[in-house]
Amino acid sequence: MKHKLIAGNWKMNLSKSEAEQLLTDLASNAHASNKYQLAVCVPAVHLGKTETILANSSIKYGGQNCYTAEKGAFTGENSAATLKSYGCSYVLVGHSERREYFGESHTFLKAKVDTAIDFGLQPIFCFGEKLQEREANHQEAIVKQQLEESVFHLDSEAFSRVVLAYEPVWAIGTGLAASPEQAQEMHAYIRQLIKEQYGTTVANNAYILYGGSMKPANAADLLSQPDIDGGLIGGASLKAQDFLAIAASA
Ligand code: PGA
Repeated sequence: MKHKLIAGNWKMNLSKSEAEQLLTDLASNAHASNKYQLAVCVPAVHLGKTETILANSSIKYGGQNCYTAEKGAFTGENSAATLKSYGCSYVLVGHSERREYFGESHTFLKAKVDTAIDFGLQPIFCFGEKLQEREANHQEAIVKQQLEESVFHLDSEAFSRVVLAYEPVWAIGTGLAASPEQAQEMHAYIRQLIKEQYGTTVANNAYILYGGSMKPANAADLLSQPDIDGGLIGGASLKAQDFLAIAASA
């Protein structure tokens, strides 16, 4: 059976000492498992400490954003090459907060997906519908469009490096997670889209994470759905106990 991928998204949280404490707690309490892989996507300023503290652990890590150039005059940005040099496995691309607050367009996100892959990172590509889109029952059309615009241009070899994270915007940080049935229905639809694009083997191997208010209390029900391959966890990834409890329910 495929292991689950349990990825934390710290967002713009934690001071230096708080980050070090959380990394240390995770490193000392996480056990290697064939049921799940743990990962944390940290603010770039914490990557040096992350690399050091997680060095001998089974936990992988990544950045939360990268720019599309390898290096150069792009003040304030971080490149995929730099993330890779810190030992990152992953980088988040297309999180709804980047789309909403930083105006990241689907063409920009497409370029970021390409850049991440070119520099040996696995993009965790986030997408999902807003509340009014779900209320209008447009969620499938929106999700299809987001995948077609930024990911489905890849050949199957490159696509197999992408992790998908379905995150309905109305569920992010609201405490109101999608129900296991709602999430499973969408994940099955996404897998069907992958199948149509890349065939059955690629679709079956694809990782489709669910994100949006996943916590210890609902993780087991969500993660036991057949098409949910893991979680992208914001708020509950800031406490080692909660994050590890979610992993334990995988
Ligand atoms: P949340 O965030 O778990 O706090 O809802 C998830 C995310 O934004 O990735």
